Amino acid sequence: MHLNVFAECSPSPQFVGFWRDSDDRSATGYRSLEYWTSVARKLEAACVDALFFADIHGVYDVYRGSWEPAARHAVQLPAIDPTLVIPALAAATERLGFAVTYSTTYHPPYQCARAFSTLDHLTGGRVAWNIVTSYLRSAAENGLGEYLDHDLRYDRADEYVEVARALWERSWDEDAVVRDTEADVFAVPEKVRAIDHKGDWFTVRGPHQCEPSPQRTPVLYQAGASGRGTAFAARHAEVVFLTMSDPQTGAPQVAELRQRAEEAGRDPHALKAMQGSMVMVGPTRAEAKARADLYNSLWSGEGQLAKWCGWMDIDLAAYPDETPVEEIRAEGSHSFVKFLQRLGPERTWTVADVRYLVTRPRRPRREAPVTLYGTPEQVADRMEQWIETAGVDGFNLIPCPPTGGIDDICDLLVPELQRRGLFRTAYDPAETTLRERYFGAGNRHYPG
Ligand SMILES: Cc1cc2nc3c(=O)[nH]c(=O)nc-3n(C[C@H](O)[C@H](O)[C@H](O)COP(=O)(O)O)c2cc1C
Repeated sequence: MHLNVFAECSPSPQFVGFWRDSDDRSATGYRSLEYWTSVARKLEAACVDALFFADIHGVYDVYRGSWEPAARHAVQLPAIDPTLVIPALAAATERLGFAVTYSTTYHPPYQCARAFSTLDHLTGGRVAWNIVTSYLRSAAENGLGEYLDHDLRYDRADEYVEVARALWERSWDEDAVVRDTEADVFAVPEKVRAIDHKGDWFTVRGPHQCEPSPQRTPVLYQAGASGRGTAFAARHAEVVFLTMSDPQTGAPQVAELRQRAEEAGRDPHALKAMQGSMVMVGPTRAEAKARADLYNSLWSGEGQLAKWCGWMDIDLAAYPDETPVEEIRAEGSHSFVKFLQRLGPERTWTVADVRYLVTRPRRPRREAPVTLYGTPEQVADRMEQWIETAGVDGFNLIPCPPTGGIDDICDLLVPELQRRGLFRTAYDPAETTLRERYFGAGNRHYPG
């Protein structure tokens, strides 16, 4: 199985409120190199595939039309830029991969291609790009680009990936760089090409500014689960980050994704499905429960509202309670409304229902499959069930608490998975790049 560990370069990664826990280091560590290098070394010692960085542009200002709740509760505010953290982590590790979120809405593709070639060179081929179209409008208000409607963002993203891949794959021949000191030729100019892209959204001449890196194209991740997001993933993604509510309802989602990849002319198993699950694991039931109690005691209803409203692009304070959320036209992430529909397919989710769901601390139960909660044995049983029933290839583990949870994953969960023969005990020396870790030795480049 493949295991990534989720992180954000902000004080309370994913769980609003953990900055208040004096034992958790994320509140100040998120902006410290010492913190991130110790996290990366820990994950590498546990043979984890990759450290995954989520990221946003702009601030959560949809709830009540204000960023005050986001600032008050540290809802991905403040946040530093994770792409700039990665080279330092690459220097502190040798094998760990790094996946980083980069928006097709708020960066130009030429710059994206250069940034990822740089990361791929500096990490020796250990980098992945989590392709997102972004859901926050507020970045557009800061001059980062135009906030298009949901499906148009994906149309633009399709062309964006085409441009970036052309720069990575077609601009420099493998033997373009000769470094011939006698002849005074560094690169053969005929082997460095323009891409001459002229499309609906972009005009990019090229050539690419970087020579070919170990993987050329970084491993392509994707996370949006709307219909349009799934079509995009089926077309481009190699690793898909899914947030499914349980293995039974997850099975058709994974099957649909693979089927759509096949329809797009791809090998359906050349696409790794990773379930994104919060992990709350303790050495004993009592200690797992202590983590759950801490999580509940730190819960910030207002902070959660700020986050969900931003994700959905719906201000849950602005509509009458009985309004069905599906009827509200919103251009944010459609994945979350879909998630609600799967959580309770028989019901109409109203604004009041969603507010209640979001603000109420959700005590994790071992029976609630979306959270991997309990002892290492209980959690490993649950993961096996996800693999067998839903057909996932691995997990993007969201550690809870953010810092202590990383230790729990590495010191408690991974050894249990290794004992069961489900997870590697050493990195395969033949797999030198991140893509080879997912797809086997020799598969360094994006297929096709
Ligand atoms: C599990 C998950 C994680 C995501 N992580 C990020 C992220 O870190 N940054 C971001 O801008 N968008 C993130 N997104 C948003 C999407 O990737 C997507 O680009 C956008 O929300 C619209 O697509 P959708 O309607 O298909 O969700 C995430 C979405 C999901 C479902």
